[in-house]
Amino acid sequence: MPAKRSQNSSSSVKSSPQPRQSGASARKGEPPSTSQDIRASFLRFFEERDHYRLPSSSLIPPSDDPTVLLTTAGMQQMIPYFLGRVTPPSTRLTSVQKCFRTTDIDEVGDASHLTFFEMLGNFAVGAYFKREAIAYAWELMTLVYKLPPERLFPTVHPDDDEAPGYWQEVAGIPADGITRLGDNWWGPPGASGPCGPDSEIYYDRGVEFGCGEADCAPGCDRCERYLEVWNLVFMQYYQDIDGTRTLLKQPNIDTGMGLERLTMVLQGKNSVFETDLFRPIIDKFATLAHTNYGENAEHDRSLRVIADHGRALVFLAGDGVLPSNTGRGYIFRRVLRRAVRYGRMLGLEGLFLAEAADTVIGLMKGHYEELAARRDQIVDIISTEERRFNQTLTLGMQMLTRELDALEKAGKHEVPGELAFKLYDTHGFPVELTAEVARERGMTVDRAGYDGAMLRQQEQQAKSGHIFVREQEEEAWAKVSNGLPTTRFTGYEGELGSSAIVAMLVNGKPADEVSAPQAAALVLEETPFYAEAGGQMGDHGMIGSQTGIFQVSDTQRPVPGLIVHYGTMIEGHLRVGSEVRAEVDAMRRQAIMRNHSATHLLHLALKDILGKQVHQQGSLVAPDRLRFDFNMTRPLAAEELREIDQQVNSAVLANHLVRTEIMPYQEALATGAMALFSEKYGDTVRVVTMGASKELCGGTHVAATGQIGLYLTTQEAGTAAGIRRVEALTGTGAEMFVHRRNDLVSGLAGRLQTTPDALADRVRQLQEELNEARRSLAAVQRNQAREEATRLAASPTEVNGVPLVAAVVSAPDVKTLGEMSDGIRSRLGSGVILLATENDGQAQFIVTIDDALTKRGLNAGKIAAAVAERLGGRGGGRPNSAQGGSNDARNLRATIAEAGALIA
Ligand code: ALA
Repeated sequence: MPAKRSQNSSSSVKSSPQPRQSGASARKGEPPSTSQDIRASFLRFFEERDHYRLPSSSLIPPSDDPTVLLTTAGMQQMIPYFLGRVTPPSTRLTSVQKCFRTTDIDEVGDASHLTFFEMLGNFAVGAYFKREAIAYAWELMTLVYKLPPERLFPTVHPDDDEAPGYWQEVAGIPADGITRLGDNWWGPPGASGPCGPDSEIYYDRGVEFGCGEADCAPGCDRCERYLEVWNLVFMQYYQDIDGTRTLLKQPNIDTGMGLERLTMVLQGKNSVFETDLFRPIIDKFATLAHTNYGENAEHDRSLRVIADHGRALVFLAGDGVLPSNTGRGYIFRRVLRRAVRYGRMLGLEGLFLAEAADTVIGLMKGHYEELAARRDQIVDIISTEERRFNQTLTLGMQMLTRELDALEKAGKHEVPGELAFKLYDTHGFPVELTAEVARERGMTVDRAGYDGAMLRQQEQQAKSGHIFVREQEEEAWAKVSNGLPTTRFTGYEGELGSSAIVAMLVNGKPADEVSAPQAAALVLEETPFYAEAGGQMGDHGMIGSQTGIFQVSDTQRPVPGLIVHYGTMIEGHLRVGSEVRAEVDAMRRQAIMRNHSATHLLHLALKDILGKQVHQQGSLVAPDRLRFDFNMTRPLAAEELREIDQQVNSAVLANHLVRTEIMPYQEALATGAMALFSEKYGDTVRVVTMGASKELCGGTHVAATGQIGLYLTTQEAGTAAGIRRVEALTGTGAEMFVHRRNDLVSGLAGRLQTTPDALADRVRQLQEELNEARRSLAAVQRNQAREEATRLAASPTEVNGVPLVAAVVSAPDVKTLGEMSDGIRSRLGSGVILLATENDGQAQFIVTIDDALTKRGLNAGKIAAAVAERLGGRGGGRPNSAQGGSNDARNLRATIAEAGALIA
């Protein structure tokens, strides 16, 4: 959801940056109260200050940047102006922009996060900069919207030394009233574009919304006390695709303020959903679900989620976003599915989203006329998709019922996490729903297993980096690869090649040409790029000709036989048929090869040292490290790890030549080559031999083991039941590791004023000194305790004729309390002794009673329980001796002072 939204304001460079004393008509009377008036007064404020009003652009962004699926900010339609490519209608602009952000979708349902929202903004194309933007914002907030200045908290970027001065000048806020936040930086919205530091205005909703922590301040992520309402971006840089920043021709202003949040503040509501922008939508869904908003916290959250999602779907459909499995169509689908699931939790079935569309349209058509004009299409799009997903859910429910029946028969009471995940993954069936259905039968869901399966999939997706385009891509490749020969891999011989482009996808669709700065996926006739397989990561590098350069950031084999280069055109253009040069990033590849060959040596060492029953369960061969998983039920001993490192390093020093042979599978097995159980091999296989190691492997390797350099195991740990994982470094990575460790040891030695070799002795000596100091301190404390005991024993009070000593004393622990109590007892004879102590805010106490008194019915255990209850802690024990404590010692003194009454 909107991490930021706001808008900015400005005045002409000539005009005074000081808040104006006259202007928007609203300022004399009450601040605007309806969302309609708030929108209108914003636009009017800036129009009165010579800003040209631009209509909202579509949710389908104007840019052809494939990395930006939907409009996420008001500045998107201003980008050509900021970059100086197009002349704007005015250098001062204002708008209310339809925006959609998926980033915070999981937070929707709290007070302020949304997917679709309206962004109020003012923009300056060189017309003004920080000082005026700040002055406009302050004027509008305090004089038009009449927000109390003491509730407004500006934040700035840590490196921005100008903005704080303007805040002081304009708003009288001193430097220490301004929070510096590292994430006060905005943009670019896509892979490249304008960006800059920003200054955000937070609204303090009041201490009752805070987390109460001492460091709670604007930007606090524990609570919702400080609400970010307006973001003023000082757009002064252009950031290119590889992250390099250059100054723009002129500095610009881009601001964004979330209409919903501002309305929530001005209408004094606790959430955006209670404002007039949402309340009718919430009520519509509540009516359909036969419930009321505000009766049940769980239902309220569901209502808020479907109100946000239902409204968003109307706007998406209104701008022509159609449900599909890719790109923005997939976003539509995800949002609708999420809404339906939350609806089910409220008991909503049928086409409830489509039914509520008219409520949204009725509410918003005043400002967004297109909604009324396209009403029939909108309802049609939503209801068709809703019907489809309902069928999917029905299928999921059938599958779940079958599985639950089977589990019940088998006498099981837990739904396996993998099953819950499969239901979610294939049928979009939410785990909460699975849990609910299971609960009706007295079963639970293995949530940890579910989370694990989800995590594995997310890691998979993050690795491939093509989340939204994956499904569509597979279809496209299946089609494209039909007419294509298998890609020839030439990368065993070297890292360079020349070839021709035979196919490409741009935006997930087959294309003939790609130009900068588009992202694309290219297929060559033959390639030296290794596609990720067998744990070895895909190659990076460049593909280019005189017409353009394509930067490869991943290589994969999405369908059998096809090697695909993923990346971005960074210059010019390339066409299908172009003759190109292919150049693998050689440094990276060599680092990968060192790690891959080391993995083979490690595999053999594990078998030699731990036993033949050890089998590889998985591996990762990256440029910077290697990871090897194997079956083993116990942790490895330090000596075993040492031995493993030694064996690998001797194989490195032996500098075995690495030989590869192609041979029939059966023959390879007969030579003793190691194969993986889980892997499927063809009839002929590639056998990689280095010294005594012989493995079936398609990966790339060093020419001789000496090239691996130093091998170093850095970590050994368990991952899953019966699986251990070794992580290791080779070559320069291992060298750097050793240097870092060396530096650490030298640094520590320096601090302890000794040499690295004498470090261990020095630490031992310091530990002895510390123990000695602790011993003397304890002796002193015991002495003090004895003296205090004597003093206390001399002046007991009496309760119903029974002597009582009750006191808070200084003692380091319960043991000392016991010793003191014994000392008092020897002097006092019969009586009740209650001693307490406070250390680091925590209370401990003991109660002892002599046997004569316990026979009369006094009970130390009961007294301890009563004292503990007063302290909010725990306590108890035997009739003659008991103890207790509490994490909160605040009531300790008062409780002990009243001990007499308690015992009586
Ligand atoms: N573009 C800025 C934002 O979206 C104003 O927060």
